[in-house]
Amino acid sequence: MDAELLETSLALVDTPDDGLTRHFYAILFQRHPTVRPLFSEDTARQAKMLRSAIISVVDHLDDPVWLTETLGELGARHAGWGVVADMYDAVTECMVAAMVELGGEAWTPQMTDAWVEALDAVSGLMLLGYPADSDLAS
Ligand code: HEM
Repeated sequence: MDAELLETSLALVDTPDDGLTRHFYAILFQRHPTVRPLFSEDTARQAKMLRSAIISVVDHLDDPVWLTETLGELGARHAGWGVVADMYDAVTECMVAAMVELGGEAWTPQMTDAWVEALDAVSGLMLLGYPADSDLAS
């Protein structure tokens, strides 16, 4: 995982007004409308929490224990909301699409590759937190 590339590329697209994650939700709900009912109406609150989660992950890339525990617990909560494994691919796809759009000409294919790899790893750790008897994680 290229921590420096993840940090510099996130700095290109992240703003304190949650613009990245708000744009992400707009793309997610447009491309995958079936997931919309899982979420509450208050997407602004969601966008704030998701931004904070992404920043925390980037801040802890050198801390596998934190990543495994925190993302496992987050995954367990997602299991409770009925989030299935395929939906994680949709989230990765739409987050990277939002980054590409906001990054404009400064965004590179290497940045896309780094974020696909990172979000796949985050998804994998979240799915490891699903209860052992859950059939949502496969
Ligand atoms: C990269 C993977 C993901 C991350 C980092 C992430 C992060 C978060 C965070 C931080 C929250 C706030 C709630 C909490 O702290 O417990 C949350 C809530 C939620 N997430 Fe995710 N999530 C991810 C993937 C997904 C996927 C794939 C779905 C399904 C489409 C999803 C659906 C939800 C729902 C339904 C909620 C609760 C929404 C509400 O209260 O309105 N998440 N997520």
